[in-house]
Amino acid sequence: MGKVDGKVAVVTGGARGIGKAIVEKMCEEGATGVVIADFNTETGKATEKEFKEKGWPVAYIQADVSSESDWQKVVEFTTAQFGKIDILVNDAAKIGDGHGILELDAKAVRSAFEVDVMGTLLGTEYVSRQMKSQGTGGSIVNMSSGHVGKYLPTGGVDYPLCKAAIREVTKIAARQLGQFNIRCNCVSPGLVATELHKETCKRLGVDENAFAGDKTALGRMTEPSEIASVIIWLCSNEATQATGANFQVDGGYGIVS
Ligand SMILES: NC(=O)c1ccc[n+]([C@@H]2O[C@H](COP(=O)([O-])OP(=O)(O)OC[C@H]3O[C@@H](n4cnc5c(N)ncnc54)[C@H](O)[C@@H]3O)[C@@H](O)[C@H]2O)c1
Repeated sequence: MGKVDGKVAVVTGGARGIGKAIVEKMCEEGATGVVIADFNTETGKATEKEFKEKGWPVAYIQADVSSESDWQKVVEFTTAQFGKIDILVNDAAKIGDGHGILELDAKAVRSAFEVDVMGTLLGTEYVSRQMKSQGTGGSIVNMSSGHVGKYLPTGGVDYPLCKAAIREVTKIAARQLGQFNIRCNCVSPGLVATELHKETCKRLGVDENAFAGDKTALGRMTEPSEIASVIIWLCSNEATQATGANFQVDGGYGIVS
């Protein structure tokens, strides 16, 4: 029996990286529908095709998580395709331009806030309204980051700021939605081997392979599937008392200074 047998999930940012690994694991663990909500049509359609060829119940919809009307579309699309929504994973994120406090690019910070924080908040609002109307509870998982609390002498302001706000969104949602048996948790990865990590290393001029060795307790990068398995557990009937919590899944990145 799969961990999410019979459940229907929406995964934002599901076209690639950690989101794609989450979609994959949802299907392997018995989900009867997984919607990939991502604004990148090319990768979104490619991932949909790849998984449909395996016989998995996936459907792609082009959506920008910062848009309210797109969230309306995502809920309508998912319920029309698969009849309900039991799980929402708010994975999509925008990384800012890396500007520090002395050379802030306010436009870039606002833009990251729109996608990361407002995207998570709007997704939680629209999907939990649907979950409430179904009356069968649900599970929402938000994506924070192990970069929260790492106060570096230089580096971008927007990303840790948005990821810290997402932890607060998680707790507020958990408190207000618990009465409807909707759980809301947060996962904080550290250094995960995805396209995003490669792009960030390239931008910073650092070697992507030399990155994690001495920065984590376990001495290696995290694989996307290792984040996905914790998320699946959080959405399963094994985690029915987990809510309002942040799960640091980072190989010990947070405890290495
Ligand atoms: N990779 C890491 O090391 C790492 C570490 C900590 C946290 N995270 C978090 O994990 C999540 C996934 O990271 P990843 O490395 O897989 O990223 P990624 O860039 O590889 O994938 C992100 C996906 O989100 C989509 N997306 C971006 N903006 C969107 C928007 N406005 N609307 C809809 N879709 C949008 C992109 O098209 C892409 O498919 C993010 O929330 C990220 O902050 C990643």
